[in-house]
Formats: sequence, structure tokens, C-alpha cells
Amino acid sequence: MSAINLTTLHGQKKRGEKIVMLTCYDAIFAKTACEAGVEMLLVGDSLGMVLQGHDSTLPVSVEDMAYHTACVRRGNRGAMIVTDMPFMANATLEQTLQSSARLMQAGAHMIKLEGAAWLAEPIRQLAHHGVPVCAHLGLTPQSVNLFGGYKVQGREQAQAQQMLDDAQHLEQAGAAMLLLECVPAELAARITQAVQIPVIGIGAGADTDGQVLVLHDMLGLSLGHTPKFVRNFLQSQQDIPSAIAAYVQAVKRGEFPAAEHGFSA
Ligand code: KIV
Repeated sequence: MSAINLTTLHGQKKRGEKIVMLTCYDAIFAKTACEAGVEMLLVGDSLGMVLQGHDSTLPVSVEDMAYHTACVRRGNRGAMIVTDMPFMANATLEQTLQSSARLMQAGAHMIKLEGAAWLAEPIRQLAHHGVPVCAHLGLTPQSVNLFGGYKVQGREQAQAQQMLDDAQHLEQAGAAMLLLECVPAELAARITQAVQIPVIGIGAGADTDGQVLVLHDMLGLSLGHTPKFVRNFLQSQQDIPSAIAAYVQAVKRGEFPAAEHGFSA
């Protein structure tokens, strides 16, 4: 696979070819996922839950993210590496720039920031410094305490309109990509059509430009609750490489997610 970059992703959006992203935290899974056809590796702060055993992503540090990004970079075979900015590591603009520099130097090709319209200025500044940003909207797990749980976002009309406005505002500010988590499928489809940049979904229906899942979830490994938007791809396969390849094919063919993995308004 030749190296995936923003031009590749824009071409895929234009052609309607689905983008496949999977979380990844180490070298061997990076290599395995690339060989199975995964195009984007997300070093998610979900590692705080699936690797470190915390009950939220809040305890994860920039150094944790840099460590796992460097591991993924060593195993990567041409995928685009997206690394999460962990909780409060972007509390000020100066911190945002410093944390992003650390993560990019560890091997990220893009930084993912959780938030809403207020991300416009940091996105502008990061783009100015050559850092592509993925803005994560909808259910942003670092705000779980504000939301009162891991709940679907954008069900009310005003909130849905706000998310659509935020998405367009962040595109104008220079965001390179959007990620929508746990939003009604119809809203995710509207946002995807309203912006030129690629939109990746998780629990956001089938009409986004691409999909992401947490690696451990799609292998049926869980420390507790498995969200409704997950499918266990290992169940019908012999081994992990085949399960990841089945996920890639299911996304590419539009067979995953199915209606039962999504939410309505
Ligand atoms: O941290 C993560 O793995 C994520 C995905 C759930 C999108 O942000």
C-alpha cells in the first residue's frame, strides 16, 4: 500500500470510497492492520481504558500518547497515524502547540482534538504550523463527567443544528478531518454532505465517509460494557488478521455498520 495522506483521503471522499480507520497502540498491531488494508491508525486515548484499565480516558498523559504513537510508527506500513490529544493537554494555546509538537515528533501525521466550535483558534494555529487536525464532535469521551455518561449527542434539534454549524465553522478554520461519535445517523449524513473534508464515524451510521472502531472491541475483547455500534469481527473468522481484513471489507462494501449499529434522533 502506498502511503496514505490527506490527498488520498480527499480523493476517497470524492469517489465515495469508504475510509477505514482502526485504533492501534503498538507495532505488531500496526503492521497487522496495515497488511489487512486499514488506511488510518488511530492512537486513541481509549488506551487509557483498554490497555491501562482505567474507567475513563482522563488519566492518560501526553507521554503515554507519545510512547504508543512511537510504537505504532515503528510497525506502520503506510497508514496515516492519527494521535489523540489527551485530557487537558490542550488547556491553553501554548500547551496545545507543545503537546502537538511532542506527538507529531513521536510519529503522528495528524492530531485529534475533542471539542466543538471553540477548537477553531487552536486548529487555525496548528494548521499554520503544519499540523493537520481531526476535530472530534458528538460524544467526546473526555467530557463524560459533563455529559453524565456515554450518551448519544445531537438528538434534539437545537443541538443537532449546533453540531452542524460547528462542523462547518471548524472546516473553515482549517480542520483536516472530522470524527463524529454517537450521533444520530441522519445528522451524521447531513454533516458529511455539508463539508468537503472527510468525516469518520463511530456509532454515527453508514453515511459518513469512513468508519473507526476500537481494536479490542471489534475483536470481542472487553473489560465491561460493549457499545451497540460494535460488531465482533473475530467471531466469524479464524484469526486476528482475518478479522481485521473482514472489518476492512465490510466497511469498504458498505456492509458495516448496519442499521442496528446506529442511533436515530
Ligand atoms: O480514543 C479513541 O479510541 C477514540 C475513538 C473511540 C474514536 O477517540
